[in-house]
Amino acid sequence: MYRTHSNGELRLTHVGQEVTLAGWVQKSRDKGFMIWVDLRDRYGITQLIFDEERTPKDIMERAKALGREFVIQVTGEVIERVSKNKNIATGEVEILVKELTVLNNAKVPPFTIEDETDGGDELRMKYRYLDIRRNPVKNNLIFRHKVAQEVRNYLSKEGFIEVETPYLIKSTPEGARDFVVPSRMNEGQFYALPQSPQTFKQLLMIGGMDKYFQIVKCFRDEDLRADRQPEFTQIDCEMAFVEQEDILTVFEGLTRHLLKEVNGVTVGDFPRITFDEAMKRYGNDKPDIRFGMEFGELNEVAKHKGFNVFNNAELVVGIAVPGAASYTRKEIDKLIDWVKRPQVGALGMVYVKCNEDGTYKSSVDKFYNQEDLALWAKVTGAKAGDLICVLSGDTAKVRTQLSALRMELAERLGLRKPTKFAPLWVVDFPLLEWDEETERYHAMHHPFTSPKPEDIALLDTNPGKVRANAYDLVLNGNEIGGGSIRIHDKETQALMFDHLGFTQEEAKKQFGFLMNAFEYGAPPHGGIAFGLDRLVAILGGQETIRDFIAFPKNNSGRDVMIDAPATIDDEQLNELHLKVEL
Ligand code: AMO
Repeated sequence: MYRTHSNGELRLTHVGQEVTLAGWVQKSRDKGFMIWVDLRDRYGITQLIFDEERTPKDIMERAKALGREFVIQVTGEVIERVSKNKNIATGEVEILVKELTVLNNAKVPPFTIEDETDGGDELRMKYRYLDIRRNPVKNNLIFRHKVAQEVRNYLSKEGFIEVETPYLIKSTPEGARDFVVPSRMNEGQFYALPQSPQTFKQLLMIGGMDKYFQIVKCFRDEDLRADRQPEFTQIDCEMAFVEQEDILTVFEGLTRHLLKEVNGVTVGDFPRITFDEAMKRYGNDKPDIRFGMEFGELNEVAKHKGFNVFNNAELVVGIAVPGAASYTRKEIDKLIDWVKRPQVGALGMVYVKCNEDGTYKSSVDKFYNQEDLALWAKVTGAKAGDLICVLSGDTAKVRTQLSALRMELAERLGLRKPTKFAPLWVVDFPLLEWDEETERYHAMHHPFTSPKPEDIALLDTNPGKVRANAYDLVLNGNEIGGGSIRIHDKETQALMFDHLGFTQEEAKKQFGFLMNAFEYGAPPHGGIAFGLDRLVAILGGQETIRDFIAFPKNNSGRDVMIDAPATIDDEQLNELHLKVEL
């Protein structure tokens, strides 16, 4: 037996017992006549003591030679510590070592394996297995396990069956590029790795599975950000014989269950807002509603007062920043520079200070009097002491810019509290989205999403206005899930492909299997997929999903630990028919 206890287990009640422990040497303090070693494993740290008077000489010698991260096994007696360490669970005891076995030596690690480390991002990624020994990373992985387990508990209790779907498939469009895998046995042909199991889960509904879920890897070749990885995990779900309301109820239940079980937080009914409303009130389809600063549209009160910038703008819109009237000129100038950065792209910013004495001071006092500015305050909900920030321009652009400013200011003002959870549903997404580059419509969610029946007629006249039976679950300003009620008949699906610019031939070639299946009794169905990585990160009070993935890719999509992607040799290329000659 390698160990009788873990390193997080021993307490005063164990004093007097002989125990065997195993783990890694976190650190060692050698006072000559006495050596203390912190022994670490997943469960915690236990202090070992080697003492000239009580420890055999040869063991004392070997203890002196222990280096950081050596793997050792010790046997000894649990004794009460003289100076107790209140910071660790085992801090009241230590082990007086009688036997010591070095199970493995270790090179000096390239960074310190402690909560606060001196290792930079890339270095820690390269030695991820060492990083995983650190509490912050280890705890995130344990936290992820807990979330996944609660997901399985809840969905299993609700009657969902976990079914695995294949990874070597044909392209499923979710808006990103596919990762492809060449086929050795079928020259010139390729599998695609799934961007999601979308078509398979629909086929499972046609197969009568009724309630399906899967915690599943998805692959998307897209540009990376803090909340995106090329391979990530979905909690993928589908149900038959349901309407949107049924799906929202079940998955609101799942989210509430997780918040309760994992975070100990109880939340009420989730608010629902339409996509249009979200854009109007927050400039964003994934609004963070933990704080206010809702948009106030100022066209009516700010136009036609001689200020041409506003007169020529499609939209004039502002937010009231709480308590920011006290910002100095310099601070406001910095804010203006911030919105003018290319990443935000505003041309400028107008501001109004709502003074404590009820007067207003604005950067456009030449054009607006006190009554005018009082109206701005009313529309934006500004109170005495607030600063109104106003942007103007093309509606879509200016909303995005003001949304970026809203989030930045909320961050600076400490309003994005990681322990506060504000979920909401965004519903009634547009079915189609115009793509400037290809000059055609794309499915905003995916091509299997059903249009709202009352909007189908608009498909021919005003496709951009057609709303879909599609919804997103948003938590603290992050899209953590999205889904829709699907098309389940061949005709509507063909109509959709037609509007997306597929010829009948192309549609048949790519999705014939699904269209055929629709002819064999497809039930009405719909579903949702949560981004597990995102969900876990947000429940964990963070936004960088990489920190919750055991072996993530870096920003260029590389695994720097195993050094992938990598070239393959000519022989292998040849076998895959990717190279004509050796
Ligand atoms: P969608 O494309 O919205 O829907 O994806 C569902 C959720 O997956 C997460 N997500 C990601 N997480 C990390 N890295 C990425 N690159 C990434 N891309 C997406 C998001 C997102 O909300 N088949 C549909 C679901 C359905 O209709 O049922 C789908 O995949 O949190």
